[in-house]
Amino acid sequence: MNYFSYQNGTMHCEETALEQIASEIGTPFYVYSAKSFTDSYNNFANAFQSRKNIICFAVKSCSNIGVLGLLGSLGAGADIVSGGELYRALRAGIDPEKIVYAGVGKTRQEIKEALEAGILMFNAESAQELDVLNEVAGSTGKRARVAIRVNPNVDPKTHPYISTGLKKNKFGISADTVKEQFRYAATLEWLDVEGVHCHIGSQLTEVSPFGEAAKIMASLIKDLRADGIDIKYLDMGGGLGITYNGETPPNHSEYAAAVLEAVRDLDVTLIFEPGRNISGNAGALVTRVLYTKDTEAKHFKVVDAAMNDLARPSLYDAYHSILPVRETDAKIKCDVVGPICETGDFLARDREAADVPVDGLYAVMSAGAYGMSMSSNYNSRPRAAEVLVSGGNYFIIRRRETYADLTGPESVPAFLRTGKNI
Ligand SMILES: Cc1ncc(COP(=O)(O)O)c(C=O)c1O
Repeated sequence: MNYFSYQNGTMHCEETALEQIASEIGTPFYVYSAKSFTDSYNNFANAFQSRKNIICFAVKSCSNIGVLGLLGSLGAGADIVSGGELYRALRAGIDPEKIVYAGVGKTRQEIKEALEAGILMFNAESAQELDVLNEVAGSTGKRARVAIRVNPNVDPKTHPYISTGLKKNKFGISADTVKEQFRYAATLEWLDVEGVHCHIGSQLTEVSPFGEAAKIMASLIKDLRADGIDIKYLDMGGGLGITYNGETPPNHSEYAAAVLEAVRDLDVTLIFEPGRNISGNAGALVTRVLYTKDTEAKHFKVVDAAMNDLARPSLYDAYHSILPVRETDAKIKCDVVGPICETGDFLARDREAADVPVDGLYAVMSAGAYGMSMSSNYNSRPRAAEVLVSGGNYFIIRRRETYADLTGPESVPAFLRTGKNI
């Protein structure tokens, strides 16, 4: 099914016209298709139905509690990387027994909160973290289930900023030395060492790195078991890519085949942490053209969404397809730029795009992952609204921020208010 399609010449998400949403709540806004989330999650889960598995949605990719609640209702767990993401997952009703916690810089406070919530597992990223986990578990009186994140030194063949499984990356513990750390962790009183974890990168469009990493992990599990460390979980992380601009990432069955082949003789519960693969193509960012502008070098479409709303083009030079909400054959080579005072503020550069006039709408496609969740208030721009569409209905799952939201946590120091010097 096409979750975003033209019906009577105007783009719809499922059965809801984007023009209708824009006229009712203004722009810019993120719009997500509930059916797209549901289908992607179910396809992913079905590909692994022959094995015990837990699918922990990567909260960082799209962290709205409306989305998390929907995925939780389908049976998803959560892959979190901060206390804030734990809070969101719990608020959304995700079962703590399906929450895994990665990240190189967990604080003691965050670890305590996760222990108290009773999460499934910490994915420890360093030797020092093992000690801190043990210490906090001891002082809280709650045992910590632990996996160690292994850096298998497999090239994911993706953008360097989202490659994580190479020796030069900050993540995990090198596969060469990790056995020592497992043995050490097994001696720590408050830890139950039950898992191995890896996540080699994001937006992978080839299947072979997954297969390669899975083989390394399977052989590690066998060695650890031979050493008496009873590994119950293999967490393969996320990373399965999507189509932004003609890429042909593996489909769910190809991905599953590569992983399952590597673990076929192992009795282990598989954990996956897909983010982008479930959320990326479920969402679009809808923005209105404010001005058009010609310089000697370029034609600009100045729109009301900017790099604070969608950072990926500025940050990674990422490509997002930009489509007119009202169908047109008129085309123009242009830069689609936002109002922010940075030359780096663009959604597309030198793009042959639909020639949408002032007041017309564009839909920036494939923006469901690392879109809203990476947004900021830069240039004191209130964050966009988010809506979830189901069939012919839409639900506001995050209202547009107001100016008062911008300054809510701030205050003018008392000495300025009273006029007294300090
Ligand atoms: C540990 C971990 N798991 C899962 C993910 C999700 O990755 P993706 O959105 O590519 O599936 C990430 C992304 O950075 C990650 O760091």
